[in-house]
Amino acid sequence: MRKEEYARDFLVIGSGLAGLYTALKLSAIGEVILLTKAGLEESNTFFAQGGIAAAIDPADSPTLHLRDTIVAGAGLCRIEAVEVLVNEGPARVRELIELGVPFDRSGHEVALTREAAHSRRRILHALGDATGRAISQVLAARVRENPRVEIREYTMVTRLLLTRGRCVGARTVNGAGEVRDFLARAVVLCTGGCGQLYEVTTNPGVATGDGIVLAYQAGAQVADMEFMQFHPTALWLAGAPHFLISETVRGEGGVLRNVHGERFMPAYHELADLAPRDVVARAIADQLAKTGAGHVWLDLAAIPPEVIKARFPNIYETCLPYGLDITREPIPVAPAAHYMMGGVVTDLWGRSSLPGLFACGEVACTGVHGANRLASNSLLEDLVFAHRIARHLAEEAPLPPPDFSTPAPLPGVPAELKTEEAIAFLRRTLSEAAGITRNGPTLARALTHLRALPLVELEDGEPPRRYELANMLVLARLIVEAAYLRTESRGCHFRADFPQTDPAWARRIYFSREETGKGGAVD
Ligand code: SIN
Repeated sequence: MRKEEYARDFLVIGSGLAGLYTALKLSAIGEVILLTKAGLEESNTFFAQGGIAAAIDPADSPTLHLRDTIVAGAGLCRIEAVEVLVNEGPARVRELIELGVPFDRSGHEVALTREAAHSRRRILHALGDATGRAISQVLAARVRENPRVEIREYTMVTRLLLTRGRCVGARTVNGAGEVRDFLARAVVLCTGGCGQLYEVTTNPGVATGDGIVLAYQAGAQVADMEFMQFHPTALWLAGAPHFLISETVRGEGGVLRNVHGERFMPAYHELADLAPRDVVARAIADQLAKTGAGHVWLDLAAIPPEVIKARFPNIYETCLPYGLDITREPIPVAPAAHYMMGGVVTDLWGRSSLPGLFACGEVACTGVHGANRLASNSLLEDLVFAHRIARHLAEEAPLPPPDFSTPAPLPGVPAELKTEEAIAFLRRTLSEAAGITRNGPTLARALTHLRALPLVELEDGEPPRRYELANMLVLARLIVEAAYLRTESRGCHFRADFPQTDPAWARRIYFSREETGKGGAVD
């Protein structure tokens, strides 16, 4: 096994919008290595449809955006972080436009659409409903042409490297089993989410939550792990992937109907089909239970066919090969795991509790989303906090290059199960215990099963999928434990045995490796 050490100023791990934008920003102040475990454009960002929320319309304001974000966050948003998000967001979005992201236009103005729980039309979109693809392609091209960013694709980070309590780099393995260490004066985790922990998810295969576990194993604090957001409308068609059907379809006039053709959302919330995402997901789950069907219908009859084709070309073209023409027929949909609100706890400058380690994007828990993320705030969060991390590092006195490193411990993998069997077991367990509706006894049983798994410690140089499994196992425990501890319902965490919101629970559950199980610190 060969080990080499590559030292640069900054190490960025992950290549969604957060990783690409952080790398670009940091390249202005130093040399960057960008590590990504798959190809540069394989990320949750690539699949984002709806767009980016920002108060750029004269009839809108950061104050209104702040209010909507806080209402959706159900009492757990960190107000200072939301202020940063909504106030700095418009300038960052303008930077994306300057970089060449082709946001759709209506005449001379950027076109804006609406999504659930937004009081204004404030969602910018590109290529109709392929906003993430448009952003990924433009930024990946900018990163590829940047001589100060060295890109290492198909390189998985297996653990962080530490020197005297500071993060100084990362150990990696590639597909050929080669182990390499990369050292830097700052490490930025941009590894995205963990929808792959669930049987049904809108997330791509890479979304196994690696960054949260890397930070946790290295001793950083994580929080809000009980808050997995379920998107109400993923495609539910035999043989088809659970492809996201954007909320903007409802923003443009689509309505939900149960399998008997009846509209049901007005009975659940005054905003009907544009109620907050958690309300819509639970209403659909309720309808599925009542009707015994596997899906509800998303009815687009109120949207003219030419508008459907122009606004939703991606959804239209994805459904067509499965025999579904969405200009003529309703779309069968059901909820799917979509976005992790929790993650590595960061301050307003993206700093984790471990010196030298930063986190940006879905892997981070800045507190902007609270218990329920407002649609299309996530791409904005990537931009705003990537910029802040670079600003902070530009002002911080550079440290001398690290001269010694100790690897953080590696998590273990189940001894008795093969990798794919173990992953299937985790997905089943999480989907049953920590899905849209949770309850104490099921969570307790899941926790017992997860804790009882005999584990063998991983070693350096094992196949990347083994590390993904080990990471998913740590995350499964954290999610189930947090969901068990939170004996109330709030945002997207719904406990059937504690259906009310409890004001005493307006606080976060934190975990760190040394203190797992002692959660519940007040924010
Ligand atoms: C969507 O287009 O519905 C997804 C947007 C988001 O998750 O923010």
